[in-house]
Amino acid sequence: ATAAEPYDVVVIGGGPGGYVAAIKAAQLGLRTACVEKRGALGGTCLNVGCIPSKAMLNNSHLYHQAQHDFARRGIDATVSLNLPKMLEAKTNAVTGLTKGIELLFRQNKVDYIKGSASFVSNTRISVNPIDGAPEGTPTEVESKNFIIATGSEVAPFPGGAITIDEKQIVSSTGALDLQEVPKKMVVIGGGIIGLEMGSVWSRLGAEVTVVEFLGAIGGVGIDEEVAKSFQRILSKQGLKFKLKTKVLSAEQKDGKVFIEAESAKDGKKETLEADVVLVSVGRRPYTEGLNIEAAGVEMDNKGRVVIDDQFTTSQKNIKCIGDVTFGPMLAHKAEEEGIAAVEFLKSGHGHVNYASIPSVVYTHPEVAWVGKTEQDLKAEGVKYKVGKFSFAANSRAKTNLDTEGFVKILTEAETDRILGAHIIGPNAGEMIAEAVLALEYGASSEDVARTCHAHPTLSEAFKEAAMAASSKPIHM
Ligand code: FAD
Ligand code: NAI
Repeated sequence: ATAAEPYDVVVIGGGPGGYVAAIKAAQLGLRTACVEKRGALGGTCLNVGCIPSKAMLNNSHLYHQAQHDFARRGIDATVSLNLPKMLEAKTNAVTGLTKGIELLFRQNKVDYIKGSASFVSNTRISVNPIDGAPEGTPTEVESKNFIIATGSEVAPFPGGAITIDEKQIVSSTGALDLQEVPKKMVVIGGGIIGLEMGSVWSRLGAEVTVVEFLGAIGGVGIDEEVAKSFQRILSKQGLKFKLKTKVLSAEQKDGKVFIEAESAKDGKKETLEADVVLVSVGRRPYTEGLNIEAAGVEMDNKGRVVIDDQFTTSQKNIKCIGDVTFGPMLAHKAEEEGIAAVEFLKSGHGHVNYASIPSVVYTHPEVAWVGKTEQDLKAEGVKYKVGKFSFAANSRAKTNLDTEGFVKILTEAETDRILGAHIIGPNAGEMIAEAVLALEYGASSEDVARTCHAHPTLSEAFKEAAMAASSKPIHM
């Protein structure tokens, strides 16, 4: 069956990029459909990414805190882990949110097509309905415009030297659903997934070793000083790190996994033993089955869909957003692009400021940053000032017995304009919003320093770091 008349826009993929684009398009009066093949909306982020990982991070933190941190707060409690229940809480969080998007689609009049899309031409897709798709689901859909938002997938280990079975050798997806706490876990890659999921299982009782090829943890874009402090804090929590070490292969034998690793310094090899191995060496763009060639859409040699500064692909009526194209693979980046791409489509005007996209690692303490790092500024030869304030001097952090970390604000020496902010500490992921706003408005550190912050709050550490950059802090 062919849908009755051509749509104004059909979005392929219902992740944070795609579903936001679809809702925005409908809100702007465009006749809109969104095709999703997963059986649930929300994409990687809601189903197997941001949301389930944050559920596990939050609840494993509470468990760990109850075990190791309650006594000094005057709470005597005996706690035990009910892993099936913790996994159920995670599943409930996911289901609640994905169903919520279905409701938003209905409210905004977005047609939700449950199937996998494949281009026939630049104005037509064929749809292969998934199991459980309602009767009457169209198998051919015509549209004046398309937005490709097909996201990303786990990058396989190079050369096929490690095969993921999602049971013993897992990607993030398997690591979100282990039915037992492993005794020994080896994490390959000390990027964001490795540190978040490594933290979860370490808190639940696993002995976790993170093997990272580079000399620092935290992945791309982290400030070097923050990365060092981050590693020190996680080490105190019990995670072990092997830096400048490259994993070469892994083999399953006698119920264990044996991981072969090589030192990047002297080439020395060693074998690590684990009950479960997490492979977290990055993600790659996903366009499988999309038959993108039929639409005349170009990709680059990394499999990313090539776009211009208005998100337009090599086909004028087809745009592309999110993980499947350039830039950081982050949900909020995909969402911003979804809105801007639709605005370009509707009115010819839209905007995403790539200089102010925040990054957050949801460990404890959290790590968050936006803008330039010190190493960026040095490389660019920019004269800058550093304003730093430690949570150990913040009254709320002290009261909460949660004082690890600091706020660091980087400003242009001549103008005092804020160029970057780096936070490691409690609630850093919420606090970074203030830095993003400051950056968007071109604020100076004096602007922030002269802004009243409620007392006693953790955010006062941000104000004091701004004072440190522009004059002097009061409490340090
Ligand atoms: P996706 O979310 O990948 O969605 C694409 C959708 O398209 C999928 O549902 C797929 O089924 C569908 N699709 C693909 N091809 C077709 C087709 N041919 N027909 C129909 N449907 C199709 N980011 C953050 O910002 N914060 C976090 O805390 C965070 N945590 C993460 C934790 C983990 C473990 C992982 C793996 C990722 C995390 N991310 C996080 C990254 C985030 O999930 C992605 O950046 C985000 O989901 C990208 O959105 P997207 O819309 O581009 O693609
Ligand atoms: P990543 O790119 O962040 O980190 C991968 C790490 O693995 C790198 O540090 C790399 O040096 C290392 N590595 C690669 N090969 C190796 C080898 N053979 N041996 C040892 N180390 C090796 O990728 P990751 O962690 O898989 O995450 C993918 C993406 O998912 C992130 O970049 C991010 O965009 C997104 N994400 C975001 C989250 C958030 O915003 N909180 C949470 C989780 C994921």
